[in-house]
Amino acid sequence: MPDTTSTTKSTDTPQPKKAPTANLILPAQLKLKRRFPTAQDLRARARKRLPNFAFEYVDGGAGADTGIARNWNAFNSIEMVPRYGRVVSPPPTDVELFGKSYSAPIGIAPIGGPGTGFPGAETYFAKAAQAANVPYTLGVLSAITIEQAAELAPDVLWLQLYRFANNEHKIGMDLVMRAEAAGVNALMLTWDSPVRTTRPREVKSGIMAPFKLTNRLRLDAMTSPHWLFSMMRNGIPRFVSLQPYMNGKTSIEDSTKFIRAEGGGAFTWDEIARYRDAWKGPLLLKGVLHPADAERAVAAGIDGLVVTNHGGRQIDALPASIDALPAIAAQVGGKAEIIVDSGVRSGVDVARAIALGANAGFAGKAFLWSLGALGAAGPGHMIDLFKDDLSATLGQLGCYNVDELRSVKVRHLGAYTLADFVDS
Ligand SMILES: Cc1cc2nc3c(=O)[nH]c(=O)nc-3n(C[C@H](O)[C@H](O)[C@H](O)COP(=O)(O)O)c2cc1C
Repeated sequence: MPDTTSTTKSTDTPQPKKAPTANLILPAQLKLKRRFPTAQDLRARARKRLPNFAFEYVDGGAGADTGIARNWNAFNSIEMVPRYGRVVSPPPTDVELFGKSYSAPIGIAPIGGPGTGFPGAETYFAKAAQAANVPYTLGVLSAITIEQAAELAPDVLWLQLYRFANNEHKIGMDLVMRAEAAGVNALMLTWDSPVRTTRPREVKSGIMAPFKLTNRLRLDAMTSPHWLFSMMRNGIPRFVSLQPYMNGKTSIEDSTKFIRAEGGGAFTWDEIARYRDAWKGPLLLKGVLHPADAERAVAAGIDGLVVTNHGGRQIDALPASIDALPAIAAQVGGKAEIIVDSGVRSGVDVARAIALGANAGFAGKAFLWSLGALGAAGPGHMIDLFKDDLSATLGQLGCYNVDELRSVKVRHLGAYTLADFVDS
């Protein structure tokens, strides 16, 4: 639980090393930082540069986007009280997650159908994450294989799975074996998309379900040389990871039909137990918002929980994940690692999440905007922004390192507490 009453911090801790990259900013990086200092600046440029359907797919939420707004407002309303007189240089941001060292508690959340957002997305994400040593979660509905991703990002690759329950989870279990053989570092089961919901902006932009490449979409793509160039470079995006199971069918239309037929539903507790048996590495459950589910997941052997509302994309009445976090941290803190996503846009947001009991903050849209704005250079730039902002936030709050965020005094008026769940 975060300390919401007092801040007790020893003042005799020795000064840590400086953040390793503090003095190594290259001119190109500096230029990007001046032009695009925040995720919102990248979003504005992505909106201009992407075809309309691609931007709407990436950016739109369920309903009237109020879930997205709730995520954003919830983060923005959280205050952290600084203590001065300690830290004199930018603190390092490195952390351990599931027993592995990373340069920051920041990760790229899984994205499905990303070729629609930006062709080549997975390649650019994987390379940037490996270079920066932050986790990259490959979505199972991806345009490169697990094996290709593992070559690009051997040290930081995590894999996300949806539920493919037909034939006794034949596909899911095969993917688990492939992940193990490829050296994937963690497996994430997505739990929060039991049914298909509608994202109005996506529908209005001409994206159909199941997907169909219509003339309207083709014409829309023609308006974006940036997007077309990336497609020429990376090829037409296909759901490559699933192709071994699709009897030779390769088109996007066939793939989406296949996914609809084979996938769907939320993993049951029995199924979670099967995946726990099959996968020996760190296993995460993505989509936990209720503390009782968190408790049960931990009892089932889950190592990590992703507290998320799917970025506001499922329905827009779900709690902001940052508001759900305190009750979950109170229930299972210390027994499982906790990642928060949905609305994470800056290093300050990552700091807020950690101060409230998380181990890391992941982002989806911020990284997708970075691609839409800058192409291949985007994800690396977004990681730099997160890290710089997190280091500055630590310094500003008087923390020598990420761990010390946990003793910062936080005011979080929207927080769910365990008392809110006594009768549910
Ligand atoms: C375009 C898009 C596609 C996504 N696809 C998946 C997916 O295939 N699997 C999954 O678990 N989550 C998926 N997500 C959800 C993200 O993993 C993450 O939970 C969400 O983006 C976090 O919120 P944020 O976008 O506000 O950072 C997707 C999100 C977006 C924006």
